[in-house]
This record gives sequence, C-alpha cells and structure tokens, in this order.
Amino acid sequence: MALCDRFLKNGVGAKAIVAVTGLMLSGFVVSHLTGNLLVFAGPEALNKYAAGLKSLGGLLWIARGGLLLAFITHLGLAAKLNLQNKAARPSKYQFAATMKATFASRTMVHTGLLILTFVLFHLAHYTFRVACAEVNAVPAEDVYGMMVAGFSSVGVSFFYILAMAALGLHLSHGISSAFQSLGLYNPNLNRLTRPLGPAVGLLVFLGFSSIPLAVLSGCIK
Ligand code: HEM
Repeated sequence: MALCDRFLKNGVGAKAIVAVTGLMLSGFVVSHLTGNLLVFAGPEALNKYAAGLKSLGGLLWIARGGLLLAFITHLGLAAKLNLQNKAARPSKYQFAATMKATFASRTMVHTGLLILTFVLFHLAHYTFRVACAEVNAVPAEDVYGMMVAGFSSVGVSFFYILAMAALGLHLSHGISSAFQSLGLYNPNLNRLTRPLGPAVGLLVFLGFSSIPLAVLSGCIK
C-alpha cells in the first residue's frame, strides 16, 4: 500500500498510469468507431453487431467496469497532475516551453473537459435513452434506427462533430506523448509514435463525424 502510494505521489508514476489508461481508452474509441461504421453497411449489419455485443453478457459487464475504472483513473490523475504542475510553476509560462507546445498540447484540459461533457450526454442519449424523445421512440435493439433518429437534429449532430474535433485533437497529442511518459523513446520508435497520435486523431474525427453528416445529408435514412 505504501509502495503504491509512493508510486502515485511520484509524478512519473502518475504520468505512467495516465498514459496506460489513455492508451486503453484510445483502444476502446477505435474499436467503437469500427463497430459504428457498420451503419454504412445497413441496418442488418449494425443491429446484428450490437446484438452480438449484448449477448456477451457477463464479459460485457467486465469490459464496461474496466472502461469506467480506466476513465475515472485517467481523469482523476490527469486533473491532479495538472493542478500540481500549476502550483509548481512560479510565474507564467516560460518562453521556451510555450514555443515548443503545440495547439493540441496546450488545450488538453479544455478538450478533455469537452470529451467528459460529451460522454455524459452520449450515455444519456443512446445508452440510458433519456435525452431525446426521437431516440426513445425507437426500440433499443434497433441501434441503426436510434442513430438516424438521434442525428436528425442539426443541433445534436453539430455538438457530436464539435466533440469529435476535441477528441481528435486530444488523441493527436495524447497518444504520441503516452509513449514518452512510459519512457519508450528512441529515434527509431519515435519515427513511428510521433505521427501515430495525429493519424489516429484525424481518423477518429473523420470516421465518427461521417455518421451525423451522412444522416443530415440524407445518405443514411
Ligand atoms: C458518431 C459518434 C458515435 C456514435 C454514433 C455512437 C453510438 C453509440 C451507440 C448507439 C451506443 C449504445 C449502444 C447500445 O447500447 O446498444 C453507444 C454507447 C457508448 N458509446 Fe458511443 N458513439 C459515438 C461516439 C462515441 C465516442 C467518441 C465515445 C468515447 C469518447 C463513445 C463512448 C461510448 C460509451 C462509453 C458507450 C457505452 C458502452 C456500453 O454501454 O457498453 N461513443 N455509442
């Protein structure tokens, strides 16, 4: 217990945990995107996939528990590190540090807060089905119908696209910097991990945004 406490109090240990949980959450986001893109294959393909996931029963609940634990740990430790960094910084940003920071790295807290707001709304929208009367009118097994109903609202679609832009930016910095936090850097590995974050971030933004855009444009109905 004392060892665990010391590991967490030490900034390097906390950063490593933020990195590992961040990579786990990124894995979930990419697999969720892959599943959701089945909407372009039609109602049967998407609804069959969703039914397959639900039929996992206990395994699905274990995965949900792990996801929730990773999400809370990532958020809590990232907030703690951010507050510690602010308290340790005597004056405003040092010139050199600001020069090196990218837009994505400087906005990690803002994009993180927008993602948190999005996830809470998203769960109310599609999982608990308490946010939107049009979605609630569709049977829960018809995930395709729920997506079409949900994105028929321009306001909701716009919010999703804005949140996906924030998620893309967050991942573009987060994934690359996670490897550094874990101490995994050498010139050969860097050539792979540095462009990995921006590439995954862009794919996630374009992939998820394509769904509300396809519904709004009438490509999916
Ligand atoms: C266009 C974008 C998205 C669409 C259309 C979408 C669609 C859905 C749907 C339909 C469900 C409910 C599935 C069901 O209960 O049958 C769901 C669940 C969920 N989504 Fe999304 N999603 C999107 C983006 C995201 C993103 C970016 C995240 C994370 C940052 C996310 C996190 C979750 C979580 C945590 C659940 C609950 C999973 C569970 O209950 O097992 N989603 N999504």
